[in-house]
Amino acid sequence: MQSDHSPQITIPSQDLAEENRNLLGELETAYKNMEMILNQSDREKAIAYEALQQKFQALEDLYDEMTRKENMLIHLEKLSSIGQFIAEIVHELKNPLTVISGHAEVALLIAESEDLRDQVGKIPKQVKRMSHLLDRFWRMAYKGKEDFSLFDLNENLRDCLSTVEIIKPKKIDMTSSFCNDTLIVQGDPYQISQVILNLAKNAFDAMENRGNSIRVETKKVSSHWMQTSKEFGQAYCQNEATWVVILEETDQFALVEFSDNGNGIQPELLGDLFQAFFTTKDRGKGTGLGLSISSDIAMRHGGNLAVKSVPGMGTTFQLILPLDS
Ligand SMILES: Nc1ncnc2c1ncn2[C@@H]1O[C@H](COP(=O)(O)OP(=O)(O)OP(=O)(O)O)[C@@H](O)[C@H]1O
Ligand SMILES: [Mg+2]
Repeated sequence: MQSDHSPQITIPSQDLAEENRNLLGELETAYKNMEMILNQSDREKAIAYEALQQKFQALEDLYDEMTRKENMLIHLEKLSSIGQFIAEIVHELKNPLTVISGHAEVALLIAESEDLRDQVGKIPKQVKRMSHLLDRFWRMAYKGKEDFSLFDLNENLRDCLSTVEIIKPKKIDMTSSFCNDTLIVQGDPYQISQVILNLAKNAFDAMENRGNSIRVETKKVSSHWMQTSKEFGQAYCQNEATWVVILEETDQFALVEFSDNGNGIQPELLGDLFQAFFTTKDRGKGTGLGLSISSDIAMRHGGNLAVKSVPGMGTTFQLILPLDS
């Protein structure tokens, strides 16, 4: 299921080239007409000349209009990429802020002196202020710089889940089970942790009113499994044609399943989840960028992010990454 996860504006250069070709064609015809006119009577020449003048004026107007449109599109494209960059920074800053706040909350519980509690108590308030400030810059998407290396996915997840453990609401139980296979993948462990944090935050929100458990599992799966198993997600972010090629070229994948037993998602919404700015949350609560950024990360790792859900029962996200052979 293809999702256009970034709101990038592209210049329709093919349209412009087509218009240019038409212009040249018209000029050629006009030139040929002029040659014909030179061989006609004075009266015919005057009428034809008038018609030609009008044609040239129309062409000039068209040319001006095209230049104006082209400049506008270039401007829009620049704005779009600056915006995407800002949105990336905003979203990625919000995750560490949540972690800082979580640590401060823990420190508050164990701080012994009143003075220390007073000092530490100020941290969440300041973090909230920063978070609100960042919300004001939220409107854009993500393009990142790659910093890829080989790493052990299970090890990375263990590390990441210890952070999730700190920031998760108390009522939620989290269990995990890692496969015995070593899952070596090529990528950026930091970006993969960002995906897990985004999934965790969504699961917390989905369990505000119902549900209380998160289950994280890793498995080694084959491309055949992905093509045939009913366990595979109902919708995914990757472009379908690209996904077919990936499945042909890679045989073994690492699968991370992140499940919650929260609200669940209506089937008709599954295809929209990976779109930038798609959110069902209140303004200020969700920007609709978490899954769009996460799917972007999965795809830049040559993988996929899939989802399956039963409304009222819960949701499972599946992060799929090609294994390094
Ligand atoms: N585990 C889940 N359970 C139920 N619904 C979910 C779950 N994860 C995502 N969603 C739905 O998908 C939408 C998009 O999620 P996404 O993470 O992209 O944005 P968000 O959480 O709304 O905002 P942001 O992550 O930018 O703060 C959510 O608003 C929610 O409706
Ligand atoms: Mg989210």
